[in-house]
Amino acid sequence: MKPLPRIVGAETLDGLAEDDPDAMRSRRDLRRVHRVMGSCSMLSRILRAWSLPRSRALRVLELGAGDGSLMLRVARALAPRWPRVELTLLDRQALVEPETLRRYAGLGWTATPSRTDVLDWVAEAGANPGADPDGCGPRWDAIVANLFLHHFPERELAGLLRAVAARCDHFVAFEPRRARSALLASHLIGAIGANAVTREDAVLSVHAGFRGRELSALWPADVAAWTLREGPAGAFSHCFQAVREGAG
Ligand SMILES: C[S@@+](CC[C@H](N)C(=O)[O-])C[C@H]1O[C@@H](n2cnc3c(N)ncnc32)[C@H](O)[C@@H]1O
Repeated sequence: MKPLPRIVGAETLDGLAEDDPDAMRSRRDLRRVHRVMGSCSMLSRILRAWSLPRSRALRVLELGAGDGSLMLRVARALAPRWPRVELTLLDRQALVEPETLRRYAGLGWTATPSRTDVLDWVAEAGANPGADPDGCGPRWDAIVANLFLHHFPERELAGLLRAVAARCDHFVAFEPRRARSALLASHLIGAIGANAVTREDAVLSVHAGFRGRELSALWPADVAAWTLREGPAGAFSHCFQAVREGAG
């Protein structure tokens, strides 16, 4: 059977206002989708395996963080091991509730939302690599992304991954797996009570997802200086991981 071609289509949720009831409902659906996909445990497992500095607060950036609720679950799992984290939640919409920030603070993590289009962050990284725009500073211990990279066509992705590689030592992304099994599951997502926005976007996301070593092929420059891992994860995800050599 021929592999599915990659098709990036505009997702309905991205075109809705932050306070649109359908968008709010779809973001709640996403939390159930995370549970089905095992997103929190897969992400926590990878972050726990990285050897990161313990003598100071860790600087972590999430790209396309949404309402910050997935990372909050990850924070609960990691807080015993990572007690001090300065977390920036970058998203082009302002979706993080004050209560979510208080919950991070209760774990000892300082979470700061940054309302930024990632393509501006990329442009800033290229134009002014020493600057610290919007608190999205030049260096991060770790950058993470979940259900985010698939929004972008290859040309934009290459620039985005270049900016990521210039600004951190560890990167991980969990994305939809572009496979017939995941496509079938995306058509059945109504079974978990997902609304029309989520049902439509789930199918679009799989078509825009990844397979094989597609993200590794877009990783920039000095590939020898990084260890790249990429492949299927869980039942429906595709994981890409990049660790700078010597960073552990
Ligand atoms: C499918 S949601 C995933 C949210 C979160 N990572 C999660 O897993 O719950 C994708 C997120 O990417 C954000 N997004 C899409 N395009 C963006 C862009 N160009 N810059 C910043 N954020 C963007 C959307 O606003 C949305 O919150």
